[in-house]
Amino acid sequence: MKIDGQPYRTIFPEADGHGVMVIDQTRLPFAFELKRLASLDDAAVAIRTMVVRGAPLIGVTAAYGLALAMRADASEAGIERACATLAATRPTAINLRWALDRAASVLRRAPESEREAVAFAEAARIADEDVASCRSIGEHGARILAEIAAKKGGPVNVLTHCNAGWLATVDWGTALAPIYVAHDAGVPVHVFVDETRPRNQGAALTAFELNAHGVPHTVIADNAGGHLMQHGAVDVCIVGSDRTTASGDVCNKIGTYLKALAASDNRVPFYAALPFSTIDWTLDDGVRDIPIEERDAREVTHLTGRTEDGGFATVQVVSPGSPVANPAFDVTPARLVTGIITERGVCAASHEGLAELYPERRRAA
Ligand code: MRU
Repeated sequence: MKIDGQPYRTIFPEADGHGVMVIDQTRLPFAFELKRLASLDDAAVAIRTMVVRGAPLIGVTAAYGLALAMRADASEAGIERACATLAATRPTAINLRWALDRAASVLRRAPESEREAVAFAEAARIADEDVASCRSIGEHGARILAEIAAKKGGPVNVLTHCNAGWLATVDWGTALAPIYVAHDAGVPVHVFVDETRPRNQGAALTAFELNAHGVPHTVIADNAGGHLMQHGAVDVCIVGSDRTTASGDVCNKIGTYLKALAASDNRVPFYAALPFSTIDWTLDDGVRDIPIEERDAREVTHLTGRTEDGGFATVQVVSPGSPVANPAFDVTPARLVTGIITERGVCAASHEGLAELYPERRRAA
């Protein structure tokens, strides 16, 4: 995607091959800054502190983190240590484990002296595949939006939660990719952007992306979605996912489940858009089995933003001393999901639906 006319990916190796550059998402939407990762620790800290975030992007960052680690120690023990460090950064998004497992298995087959180069090449391949998958998700999802717009004879109103745009992937995004492809093709689209407390990825990042791309949108408080759906203002919901089970349960940013309930009550179609790397084929019951990251209470108690004089301030918004809980994700059961938009097409949120698109994953009866 482009910022001020310049094309960017969210992560890319430096031209001299020494470091890896990422967009510092903790500075958005007020400052667009790149940050250099030069070591395993830099990559782990960037994922943990959400300099980079979004399931596909943290997977790719982990793959590059493993490559940076190989520069310091390319032994078998070095691979194990680096994978353990990176896997411990965030527990919910399966893309992180998927990318590490894939890169590590390639590395173990390579001679120690070649592992650094092999790891960088594999990370680049994972990044390129992510771009291709997201572009494809965009094409499949855009057909749904075009159909709704044609039937309606007017702009299609999409509600999205969190940031599942190009900033959450390497490029294009998952939930926002259909919106970009449809918008670019002339389909009239308007997006309701949930602010997404506590970290405000919707208000800060999704709004930033849609502004930069010229897509009409309106930021709403998280609690406004149900009301808008009751009044016919939302035609379709599209969200991303951090982990989706083989049975179609969709884990995504906290608050997604409530939107799915409201959508179901108001017969608004609810889609999850995700690449194959987000599917956890080992799990069936997402509510029971997906580990939900519990984050720092300070994300709930404090807000940081720009002041009117252009500075930055952090203010406390919760009564001092009140206990706080901060689960970062929730699980929307498959029964509330109209369909899953993948790089291979759109399928039902079920074993059968996913197995049809990914026959190589079909389990033996
Ligand atoms: O905590 P975050 O900002 O990493 O959470 C991101 C989300 O929940 C996204 O919706 C999800 O990763 C899908 S990204 C294409």
